[in-house]
Amino acid sequence: MPSRRPLVGGNWKMNTSRAEAQDLAGAVITQLEPSILQACDVTLFPPFPWLTAVAEATCSSPIGIGGQDVSDQSQGAFTGQTSAAMLIDAGCSTTLVGHSERRHGLGESNAILNAKLRQAISAGLEVMYCVGETLSERESGQSEDVVAMQVKEGLDGVPAGDLDRISIAYEPVWAIGTGRTAAAEDAQAMHCRIRADLENQYDARSAKGVRIVYGGSVKPSNAESIFAQPDVDGGLIGGASLDAEGFVEIIRAAASMSAS
Ligand code: 13P
Repeated sequence: MPSRRPLVGGNWKMNTSRAEAQDLAGAVITQLEPSILQACDVTLFPPFPWLTAVAEATCSSPIGIGGQDVSDQSQGAFTGQTSAAMLIDAGCSTTLVGHSERRHGLGESNAILNAKLRQAISAGLEVMYCVGETLSERESGQSEDVVAMQVKEGLDGVPAGDLDRISIAYEPVWAIGTGRTAAAEDAQAMHCRIRADLENQYDARSAKGVRIVYGGSVKPSNAESIFAQPDVDGGLIGGASLDAEGFVEIIRAAASMSAS
């Protein structure tokens, strides 16, 4: 892997009770060797109501906490939304923007995701911006165009100076929660394309520094081959992040890439 530091996120989605969330965070901390955390960034994305509890559980560890979503507004009459400032107050350093379960499940457009991303960055959060094509887009040969548009429109108006606070998660929708993973070479091809697009939109130096992680049915058994790809800088893990032992194995696989 080039000089980029590996990054692994655990997206718990709408899972865990408060007690389970605390136990899961505690188990990840206990099982992760300090040397692994020196080689790899780890962020947990618990459900909103458990952010503070998980932040307390992780406060003496380098493990970061992030929101699964953020509002495009800074404050006010926006029932049910969570602002970037609230996430920071709850202990978050980062947030997901554009997860496919929001893009496709809730109809969030590139324009709204761009507004969320810019709001989060201006409030001081880091952002993991998620992109990925659906199965029908893949089967009709549109994957690269769809993802290129998601990157272009999602980052519209974001200056190069802010790119060091943005990572991209490539998560093909057909691979999320299905047990079907993209072939390592296909993931590499898309990551390489995203980096090339970033170079066109910004410049080579900025593009080279952006971490692009893969998500979609990553498991301990396939993590190593995916993370071994030169443009894959880690993973965004869903189901497998709910099991501390498996999640830690995945983190170890990412950390080992920084040594190779
Ligand atoms: P799975 O790892 O369960 O496929 O989910 C991936 C994902 O959506 C992470 O954000």
